[in-house]
Amino acid sequence: MPGVEITASTDSPLATDADTIAIGVFESRDGPAKVSHDLPGGELAALLACGEASPRLRRVTVTHHGGRRVLLAGLGPRDKFDGERARLAAAAVHARARELGAGTLCWELPHRVGEEVIAGLITGTVLAGYRFTRFKPAPAGETPLQRLIISAHHDVAAETGRAAIVAAAQNRARDLANTPANVLTPAALAQYAGELAARHDALSLTVLDRAAIQERGMGAFAAVAQGTEQDARLIELRYDGVAAGSAATPRLALLGKAVTFDTGGLALKPAARMMEMKFDMCGGAAVLEAISALAEMGAPVRVLGVLGAVENLPGPGAVRPGDIVTALDGTTIQVDNPDAEGRLVLADCITHLRREGCDAIVDIATLTGAVQSALGWAYAGVMSNDDALCERVIAAGRRTGEPVWRLPLHPIYAEQTAGRHAVLTNRPEPRVGLASAAAEFLHHFAGDHPWAHLDMLGVAYKGHAPYLDKGGTGWGVRLLCDLALEFAR
Ligand code: BES
Ligand code: MN
Ligand code: ZN
Repeated sequence: MPGVEITASTDSPLATDADTIAIGVFESRDGPAKVSHDLPGGELAALLACGEASPRLRRVTVTHHGGRRVLLAGLGPRDKFDGERARLAAAAVHARARELGAGTLCWELPHRVGEEVIAGLITGTVLAGYRFTRFKPAPAGETPLQRLIISAHHDVAAETGRAAIVAAAQNRARDLANTPANVLTPAALAQYAGELAARHDALSLTVLDRAAIQERGMGAFAAVAQGTEQDARLIELRYDGVAAGSAATPRLALLGKAVTFDTGGLALKPAARMMEMKFDMCGGAAVLEAISALAEMGAPVRVLGVLGAVENLPGPGAVRPGDIVTALDGTTIQVDNPDAEGRLVLADCITHLRREGCDAIVDIATLTGAVQSALGWAYAGVMSNDDALCERVIAAGRRTGEPVWRLPLHPIYAEQTAGRHAVLTNRPEPRVGLASAAAEFLHHFAGDHPWAHLDMLGVAYKGHAPYLDKGGTGWGVRLLCDLALEFAR
């Protein structure tokens, strides 16, 4: 998908070559809404005064000036306007602009707003313009937006550049999520990571296949990998954006679950619930594209990314319920439910990352149905053994509009994962508190190493926001980029 080209300009919208101009208007508590830069003749104020246009959020009114389209976009009350509302307004404008066949859209940046609003207008436009066209072209007659210009009094080129990179990365994560499992195999994912690494000198890639995973002693990861003909991959992508000399910059490890398809293994999922299991690699996609975005912006951060890429199938060699395997750190695990495969993969990757050396580990995974029951579509869950790290994750989510809510760890959840004949079982008993029980399973491997676990099942696909479609959402790319930038400060 050739994305929309995005630039910043200090020219007024009418001074740019845009064929379509978007001007936002806030609701005002006292009296009629005021447009800061009206068209000559006060035409926009007149449209507001007569009620044809409205300052309410997501309302868009079309008018024309000098042969160009002008979209008057309602922004709602100024004191409530934030990055998320900017995304909503931008998506509403984008929908109308696309209907009108716009080629170049110029958004006039409202006065006195923060970087999150610039990012919101850009991501809202780019995310709304997404189509998964790898196997079927967009409907005939639909003309995608070519260019987006952000017009502001001051120079916002740097903020614009960063947001454009992150938004494009999020759409690439959606492409990965939407690609079916017969095409996006673990090997294909590793090859894609190789293409990313080849593009930036500061990126380096290491890949282990199934034999190497086994050989290293990752018995938990290997147990998931043994039921399929698709060879598994442990994908390690290292970004070192810091020149030698500032080696004090902390290193953040990002770990993504990348189960390219989860049938449940011998605990086969019912057909209806298996339908969506190509999305079980969304955590991995977020890690990969966040790192690729950081590399593209040349961010002064150190990140170590790991993806556990594997397919969970009930093939002839599949792990049997009750099999006992030995994880990389020596922990024995009774695999009582082959469908609780994510925690097996992540467990060995956590041990691997601890040995590689990093200051904190953040994993992200479509791990439990329980987190979706608890938090629905609004929040991802976060569980952590480190209050400060957890607060940073929550703050990153707040800044980027990918909100996360903390769920507890507790020794009682840990007891649920105690095995009968092995140290751990991957099937917690009793079957309550399962998001926290899964987190305690991972906690066993993280120990007291600073660690946070993002359970993103509810937000990974079937986007509920007006700027997302029904497929993969690319959730986490924005949050992880922001977190990495903040972590290095
Ligand atoms: N990948 C699934 C979680 C999932 C469920 C993703 C629905 C997308 C949609 C995960 O591997 C899983 O099967 N989790 C089980 C764990 C249980 C067997 C302990 C769950 O949460 O039901
Ligand atoms: Mn599963
Ligand atoms: Zn899974």
